Amino acid sequence: MSIVLGLESSCDETAVALVTSDRQILAQRIASQDEAHRPFGGVVPELAARAHAERLAPMVETVLAEAGLTLADVDGIAATAGPGLIGGVMIGLVTGKALAMAADKPLIAVNHLEGHALSARLTDSSLEFPYLLLLVSGGHCQLLAVEGVGRFRRLATTIDDAVGEAFDKSAKVMGLGFPGGPAVERAARGGDPRRFALPRPLLGTDEPHFSFAGLKSAVLRSWAALDAPGAQAQADMAASFQAAATDCLVDRTARAMAVAKGPLVVAGGVASNAHIRGALAGLAETHGRRFVAPPAWLCTDNAAMIAWAGVERLALGLVDGLDAPARARWPL
Ligand code: KG4
Ligand code: ZN
Repeated sequence: MSIVLGLESSCDETAVALVTSDRQILAQRIASQDEAHRPFGGVVPELAARAHAERLAPMVETVLAEAGLTLADVDGIAATAGPGLIGGVMIGLVTGKALAMAADKPLIAVNHLEGHALSARLTDSSLEFPYLLLLVSGGHCQLLAVEGVGRFRRLATTIDDAVGEAFDKSAKVMGLGFPGGPAVERAARGGDPRRFALPRPLLGTDEPHFSFAGLKSAVLRSWAALDAPGAQAQADMAASFQAAATDCLVDRTARAMAVAKGPLVVAGGVASNAHIRGALAGLAETHGRRFVAPPAWLCTDNAAMIAWAGVERLALGLVDGLDAPARARWPL
């Protein structure tokens, strides 16, 4: 059995976790920076980097202490090396390098997207390659044929906004605050999804990709046309938006099912949305395919998925040198 320490700092969550090759999470911490960014209505990269720099090292100490371990007990240090906000990525990666050097352990420079992509295998030991992955987060919206560790075939991506970005921007328009995704989901529970007729870009087309910019603009226009909108309008708009976004995700995923084998897996922050999970489960059932979704906490950013990607890579001997670069952009 191997134990990997994972570090995540690519956006606004500072996270540390210890995960074993037999899928136990020995200890983990996730510190959200929502409070720091809320006044600005979005993540401020400089503030995020400063918070990671303050918190990451003490969190490593806490997580090791909680598991009753020292660095000498771990078999590898996995740190997110991109893609993401470069200041935060550099802090996590340099911290990982320092720990690896101090304890003479291998470094695993993890692609954050691969962390999301493999996360379902941490909680579901029966999930084998290949599978069709819908990866939906704040910065990405992709369909991938996952053929193995480090082996991805991209089937579709977004031609404009990521779906999480559309959630966040629509929430802002409706005055639902930051972070937007969970706020939209909450508001939508009491709303009428048919009140606003919003577009479903690319629905039913032969084009494999996603597009959400038109949906986002339609929310802006419909909202601006309302006279003194209140809580019910917020709920109805949230429900109408969520229904339209879900229809787009389901339609594009259905198209990809024709060309990719295996179970349907969903991951990334937006995958914590219960409405979207339910719709995808229904789609998989219609096609007689298994549906696998990690628990909601494992969908949003965390370090357990980074440690797990580290476990998978370490098992294959895929380790990195101390010169591993931090990358703002790093497609799978
Ligand atoms: O994976 P993640 O935590 O960070 C990135 O790698 O981007 O994803 C964050 C995104 C944000 O856009 C957030 O609004 C969205 O996931 N999100 C949600 C929900 N929870 C988080 N979107 C819809 N419904 C949710 N419950
Ligand atoms: Zn993420």
